[in-house]
Amino acid sequence: MGWLLLCMHLLIFHFPSFSSSFNFLCHDDESSALLQFKSSFTIYTNPYSAYDEPSHLKTATWKNGSDCCSWNGVTCDTISGHVIGLNLGRERIKGTLHPNSTIFHLTHLQKLNLSYIYFSDSPFHFKFGGFPSLRHLDLSYCYFKGEVPIQISHLSKLESLHLSFNDDLVWKETTLKRLVQNATNLRELVLDQTNMSLIRPNSIYLTFNQSSSLVTLNLQQTGLSGKLKKSLLCLPNIQELDMSYNNNLKGQLPELSCSTSLKILDLYECQFKGPIPVSFSNLTHLTSLIISKNNLNGSIPSSLLTLPHLTHLSLYDNDLSGQIPNVFPQSNRFQELHLRNNKIGGEIPSSLSNLQQLTSLDLSVNKIGGEIPSSLLTLPQLTVLHLSSNSFSGQIPDVFGRMTELQLLNLAHNNLQGQIPSSLFNLTQLVELDFYNNKLEGPLPNKITGFQNLTYLILGYNLLNGTIPLWCLSLPSLITVDLSNNRLTWHVDDAFSSNSLEVLYLNNNMLQGEIPKSIFSLASLRDLQLHSNNLSGLFNIQIFSKLQNLVSLSLSQNSQLSLNFESNVSDSFNQLFSLELSSVNLIKFHKLQGNFTNLNILDLSNNKLNGMPKCLIETGHLQFLNLSQNLFTSIDQLIEMAVNNEYLLDIDLSFNSLNGDIPLAVCNINSHLEFLNLGHNNLSGIIPQCFSNFQSLRFLDLQMNKFHGTLPSNFSKIIYILNLNGNLLEGLLPKSLSHCKYLNILNLGSNRLEDKFPDWLQTMQDLEVLNM
Ligand SMILES: *[C@@H]1O[C@H](CO)[C@@H](O)[C@H](O)[C@H]1NC(C)=O
Ligand SMILES: *[C@@H]1O[C@H](CO)[C@@H](O)[C@H](O)[C@H]1NC(C)=O
Ligand SMILES: *[C@@H]1O[C@H](CO)[C@@H](O)[C@H](O)[C@H]1NC(C)=O
Ligand SMILES: *[C@@H]1O[C@H](CO)[C@@H](O)[C@H](O)[C@H]1NC(C)=O
Ligand SMILES: *[C@@H]1O[C@H](CO)[C@@H](O)[C@H](O)[C@H]1NC(C)=O
Ligand SMILES: *[C@@H]1O[C@H](CO)[C@@H](O)[C@H](O)[C@H]1NC(C)=O
Ligand SMILES: *[C@@H]1O[C@H](CO)[C@@H](O)[C@H](O)[C@H]1NC(C)=O
Ligand SMILES: *[C@@H]1O[C@H](CO)[C@@H](O)[C@H](O)[C@H]1NC(C)=O
Ligand SMILES: *[C@@H]1O[C@H](CO)[C@@H](O)[C@H](O)[C@H]1NC(C)=O
Ligand SMILES: *[C@@H]1O[C@H](CO)[C@@H](O)[C@H](O)[C@H]1NC(C)=O
Ligand SMILES: *[C@@H]1O[C@H](CO)[C@@H](O)[C@H](O)[C@H]1NC(C)=O
Ligand SMILES: *[C@@H]1O[C@H](CO)[C@@H](O)[C@H](O)[C@H]1NC(C)=O
Repeated sequence: MGWLLLCMHLLIFHFPSFSSSFNFLCHDDESSALLQFKSSFTIYTNPYSAYDEPSHLKTATWKNGSDCCSWNGVTCDTISGHVIGLNLGRERIKGTLHPNSTIFHLTHLQKLNLSYIYFSDSPFHFKFGGFPSLRHLDLSYCYFKGEVPIQISHLSKLESLHLSFNDDLVWKETTLKRLVQNATNLRELVLDQTNMSLIRPNSIYLTFNQSSSLVTLNLQQTGLSGKLKKSLLCLPNIQELDMSYNNNLKGQLPELSCSTSLKILDLYECQFKGPIPVSFSNLTHLTSLIISKNNLNGSIPSSLLTLPHLTHLSLYDNDLSGQIPNVFPQSNRFQELHLRNNKIGGEIPSSLSNLQQLTSLDLSVNKIGGEIPSSLLTLPQLTVLHLSSNSFSGQIPDVFGRMTELQLLNLAHNNLQGQIPSSLFNLTQLVELDFYNNKLEGPLPNKITGFQNLTYLILGYNLLNGTIPLWCLSLPSLITVDLSNNRLTWHVDDAFSSNSLEVLYLNNNMLQGEIPKSIFSLASLRDLQLHSNNLSGLFNIQIFSKLQNLVSLSLSQNSQLSLNFESNVSDSFNQLFSLELSSVNLIKFHKLQGNFTNLNILDLSNNKLNGMPKCLIETGHLQFLNLSQNLFTSIDQLIEMAVNNEYLLDIDLSFNSLNGDIPLAVCNINSHLEFLNLGHNNLSGIIPQCFSNFQSLRFLDLQMNKFHGTLPSNFSKIIYILNLNGNLLEGLLPKSLSHCKYLNILNLGSNRLEDKFPDWLQTMQDLEVLNM
């Protein structure tokens, strides 16, 4: 009998709900609460993602008739059988959370994670305060709205609270204060992007005054205002404080007289100004300090750079000056140092090369000069080195052999000279190489062993000479190659063969002869700039229609070139956005055929054109049209073309032989026109009154024509340059000109105007050139 009783006891103990479901640990009421909770939501999986298969959802395992303690996302107490944990984070379900929701029946919960469940703007219900044992609550990204209920402060056992990214959730001062007072074990409080704008400046410090449990406090983009007080940085156990993106946080950074355990301090994009306090050296546990995008000034305190655990320092986009202190200790743990866009001068301190762990160094856009120390270029872990827009000079040390991890090297906009070091070309991980705008010279090597991952090769604006090596347009990962503005040549027979290359700038070099045929097999090419070279030969523009992705093409300023337009078919150029064919001897241009639906920029200046092909008159999306320095005589056709393009901003028809009156159709040109140049033609008649409709016009040049009659009574109020010089205009100056406040050049010379000197001219502040 005793044995039987013991046995019964064990059964009851282990299977509390055995009365209805003999083998289940789970309680019936909790099981059905979960099932009802599930059924009040809908699933919104992405049908194209295998990961998103409805069968992968945790709730897919929730089935009536099975033990809820075995369901995914559900944790039960192994003894009592009560549900103590529910984790549905990132479950792809949505619905409204009503106060009668059965989830509030799970009163034994210790951990509740409903993050990323879309509660379609439900209010944050006070019943969340009704889980007396709750230790961890994560309701991030739930889109709750309204006030955080005061009842949340009943969660006195709370250790972590995550409510990030509920943008419309508003905190009241008392709620937060009571919560922090009552939840004496609260270690993690992550409230990014909730609305704290009702919390008065300083009140936040009273709230957390001496909260001894807090380890992590994240208040990113909460609308907090006021100054930053040291009390928050000096909380007894604080390790991580994130107050970034609070652009009402102002004033100076506080002096720190405490010793603090803070490891991470993130004040990115606030409004702090003044110096970095020397006493920040008290942050002896700091690993990461981010105060980028503020208004800090003064110099970087040397004691900051010697903090023993600091691995990440970001101070970019401030107003810091002075030099980088030469204090980095040997074997410093520094991994990232970002000082971009300040006013830091001096040279790179020699101790910087003590940072053997450095992975990323960005000193760009400062005033740092001197030579680039070779010891910097041998840091073994460096993956990102950004030194652009400084005053570095001398040669680039030829020591890249050990920088096997380097992925980005940007030395653009400096004064570097000499040859590009040969050891660079062995680097295998390099993705981005940018030496734009220096004084580097000599030829590029013909054969290289590295650069298999190179995507951006930017060597424009240097003094490079010799022949463009094959690899420059053949490496397998290339997307952008800029060799413009050098002294390079090419071999017409070279077989360039990159399939990935999209952007190729070879303009302003010494390229001669024909365009290598292999260029037309660069299948991904979108942007090809070959202007200002010595290209020659006769070739057919239609060949470019082979480049199906071509968006921008410039061949301008190749005066030995002859372009003709023989074609039987109407080729498709309907990707083309910009076509620049200035000074290239267009032959038989009127025979051009093609579909130029997307053309925005067309420059055909300085050819000998006297007729426009139909396919270009009919384009509809031009914004910039330059037909100057040709032999056009009839203005009617060109105005028709301009009227067809309802977004036109800029027309230059100067230096042609246009004659006759300006047709009235000119009044139908896009009224947002900004630039109109009809100068140096033979146009006559009166200046159409409708020019005053172009209220965005900033440049109007009608000089050296035969216009007569009086001036239009109005001009655009924002006109900057008005040139009517060398016509037959007569009468008075319109008074309305006095409203043109931005007028910079006014040239009315060589006409027959008669007026007394206008007094109002004295009030024109921007006027620099006046010719009457
Ligand atoms: C689960 O099944 C039982 C027995 O079939 C039924 O009585 C109960 O209503 C079901 N519960 C839910 C939530 O569907
Ligand atoms: C809640 O669940 C999500 C998704 O699984 C997870 O990313 C997150 O870390 C969890 N929250 C907590 C506080 O553990
Ligand atoms: C819960 O409340 C909502 C709104 O008041 C109501 O539509 C719904 O039927 C209720 N659900 C249950 C199970 O009572
Ligand atoms: C603190 O928590 C306890 C227990 O949950 C609760 O009874 C009490 O009302 C809370 N106090 C405040 C000020 O919220
Ligand atoms: C924050 O809440 C306050 C008070 O409800 C409101 O005026 C403000 O517009 C909210 N701010 C944001 C960014 O939603
Ligand atoms: C913080 O609390 C301590 C002890 O209760 C008190 O002495 C101190 O004045 C408080 N500080 C602030 C800023 O209220
Ligand atoms: C904090 O830093 C200041 C200035 O560097 C120093 O005088 C003070 O002793 C430091 N306090 C502690 C607690 O380390
Ligand atoms: C820093 O800026 C303040 C004005 O915000 C100015 O008074 C101070 O002189 C500046 N300090 C330095 C070192 O430039
Ligand atoms: C670069 O690689 C080539 C071929 O592997 C080798 O001959 C040359 O010594 C290497 N140069 C450097 C500086 O490592
Ligand atoms: C370089 O390319 C190789 C092979 O494609 C790849 O495994 C590696 O991750 C690439 N490195 C970088 C830095 O992209
Ligand atoms: C390249 O320029 C250097 C001077 O920088 C000159 O010595 C050399 O002859 C030039 N080479 C070629 C191929 O023009
Ligand atoms: C030009 O191309 C566009 C876009 O591809 C197309 O809609 C249009 O019909 C084409 N026009 C002609 C004349 O082929």
